[in-house]
Amino acid sequence: MVTTEDRARIAVLGRIPDVGLSRLREAGHVWAWERDEPIPGEVRDEQLAIADAAVTLLTNVVDAGFLSAAPRLKVVANVAVGFNNIDVAACAERGVLVTNTPGVLTDATADLAMALILMVTRRLAEGERLIRSGQPWQWGMFMMLGTGLQGRRLGIVGMGAIGQALARRAQAFDMEVVYHSRRPVAPELEAPSDARWVALDELLSSSDVVSVSCPYNAETHHLIDAAALGRMRATAYLVNTARGPIVHERALADALRAGVIAGAALDVYEHEPAVDPGLVDLDNVVLVPHLGSATHATRDAMAMLAARNVAAVLAGEPPLTPVG
Ligand code: GLV
Repeated sequence: MVTTEDRARIAVLGRIPDVGLSRLREAGHVWAWERDEPIPGEVRDEQLAIADAAVTLLTNVVDAGFLSAAPRLKVVANVAVGFNNIDVAACAERGVLVTNTPGVLTDATADLAMALILMVTRRLAEGERLIRSGQPWQWGMFMMLGTGLQGRRLGIVGMGAIGQALARRAQAFDMEVVYHSRRPVAPELEAPSDARWVALDELLSSSDVVSVSCPYNAETHHLIDAAALGRMRATAYLVNTARGPIVHERALADALRAGVIAGAALDVYEHEPAVDPGLVDLDNVVLVPHLGSATHATRDAMAMLAARNVAAVLAGEPPLTPVG
């Protein structure tokens, strides 16, 4: 008989959907932090001391301190596609595998980016605020005029799976799509949206909407800073559904206030969950709380993929979606 002592121990360090927990329970003995607030450091370390696998959320920081509390750890399975919360090099040094959840959240995140593009260009959040404020209003020929998307140019920064999925959506709105990434993607990935690679400067200076879809790392830190914003058109909009620190948030607030660009829509923040106070009282900015992958089905799929990664590693097999 396999006793609890013989089974691998899996520490789930944030709340995940039940489908993921059930799959993990087939793979080992599961301890899970079941609350929405972050796990306290001492509780985390107590579990890490005996864990063979850790399941993390993007709000769990996996650094040298985390790893030194986890002497038996074989795998960190992040329930997110982004993994900037994990020191991957430090994990590799200790022989700890890292996995993420690519693919399963592509559509949900691209949908959200498209929704934000529509919200900011058509001033939908502003309209919502007006009605909820109780102020009197009536239809007016010149009331809350926005910008239509047809024939406008969308510049996508980062043409990974999410960038490509956004490009296809934008094409359905008759937008022209250009993108920038380190290298052009294969022609068959450009074809569905007629997307064309351009240099970042050209993307910034010629796009009506700039949407950020690239990973966050040392190279993309503050990629969109005051100088980049200064290259954008005064009529252009910035959308960020990737990671907050890719955009210099204070510079963005300043640019919006000074009319350097027309508006912005953000799902992610430089010092999340804090939002630069300079953004909060601006009407030309849409602010939503990191909802890119927030659909029931997507979160289930993310939890399931993370669980399958853990199960594979604990069974001595290669993980399905390793990082690096
Ligand atoms: C969400 O932001 C993710 O990286 O999955």
